[in-house]
Amino acid sequence: MKIGIDKIGFYTPHLYVDMNKLAEARGVEPAKFTIGIGQSEMSVAPLTQDPVTLAANAALDMLDETDRAHIDMVLFGTESGIDHSKAAAVYVHRLLDLKPEARAVELKQACYGATAAIQLAKGHIALNPDSKVLVLASDIARYGLNTPGESTQGAGAVALIISANPRVLELDDETVYYTSDIMDFWRPVYSNTAYVDGKFSNEQYMAFFKQVWEQYKEKSNRSIHDMEAICFHMPYTKMGLKALRQILDEGNEADQQRLQDHYQTSTTYNRNVGNIYTGSLYLSLLSLLEQAENIQSGARIGMYSYGSGAVGEFFSGVLAEHFRENLYLDRHRELFAERKEISIAEYEEQFVKTLPTDGSTLELDITKDPASICVTGITEHMRQYTNKNK
Ligand code: HMG
Repeated sequence: MKIGIDKIGFYTPHLYVDMNKLAEARGVEPAKFTIGIGQSEMSVAPLTQDPVTLAANAALDMLDETDRAHIDMVLFGTESGIDHSKAAAVYVHRLLDLKPEARAVELKQACYGATAAIQLAKGHIALNPDSKVLVLASDIARYGLNTPGESTQGAGAVALIISANPRVLELDDETVYYTSDIMDFWRPVYSNTAYVDGKFSNEQYMAFFKQVWEQYKEKSNRSIHDMEAICFHMPYTKMGLKALRQILDEGNEADQQRLQDHYQTSTTYNRNVGNIYTGSLYLSLLSLLEQAENIQSGARIGMYSYGSGAVGEFFSGVLAEHFRENLYLDRHRELFAERKEISIAEYEEQFVKTLPTDGSTLELDITKDPASICVTGITEHMRQYTNKNK
């Protein structure tokens, strides 16, 4: 039985900053951010968007009645959860009107959470071929104002439906993974910004890639020639390229050209959104699928997932016959076109705003947020949500 990605949707908040302007404000050469890091724009979440609403907005428009009838599991990958106890998946389950006969769970392992969710979903579908699993990958990346990581922040979510006979990407059986307890990036429960050893995290990302790539070749008997493209977890667009360059000499000239060209295409959305942590790999897959004109059904795509701390996984999939007809290109084009640039001063003001933590009530003005699903405020420590379409 073929199991894989049946649908893939995306959402990012409507506000962004221009990386040239951020560089100017930080007294840095703009080319460092736009070329050295490889980011052009960075999404900024207003208080009316949190990881729950981003995920719900990513899934909302792609669900039809058949999906609603068959989704019996909601797996929410995130490292910016809003509650130590209650899973973000439960809120989304309600906001999307999913049937109650379902499991709803949150998974955490830095940027690896959604990959774990997809692999668990695959096992669930193998046992229950009529089921569909909604996998949500949603994060707001925060390193802090004026920090080295600031240029690699971002906000957004990817929603995937995993099912039998998938219409976008059929996952191969061979998948390989690797875990090692390292401190390259982490966020203690008392901190709302990440701690990171930047250089070390880059080195480990590269080393884990080499590790899982070797494991994958051995397990699958495939090589670089079998990969039409490789998508990478993308904390910033230069990072995956550095990893790819480590293995390019395993291929001939045509392989090298193809993989580098597709790599560039796979950065399209990430370059304008920033790091969305666990959704970043899937945003890069989406960029490739929606933006590459020269990619055909039957082509094999390699996927490198990395979550600091750290877990890495390499897996692959084959593009389904009519994959292009099952994408939401126009919706995503519109989403980018309707974003609004904010100044660095506005971004800084936004960055320090938080919901009250003392139990008091705050009502937010959601009229300026074009999203269907928004945070409307908080009362007695309970976040309030609305779906404007209802
Ligand atoms: P930095 O140390 O300030 O930057 O921050 P740098 O000095 O290393 O410069 C970056 C690049 O810009 C270099 O290129 C420079 O040469 C170049 P490279 O040598 O690396 O190819 N550069 C220029 N290029 C053109 N024109 C110029 C210019 N000036 C410099 N004028 C760092 C970089 C990534 C360390 C920082 O942004 C950071 O700490 N980011 C957060 C950590 C991170 O993203 N790590 C990635 C791997 S870990 C991971 O992916 C997991 C993660 O997503 C978390 C999770 O799993 O949940 C982060």
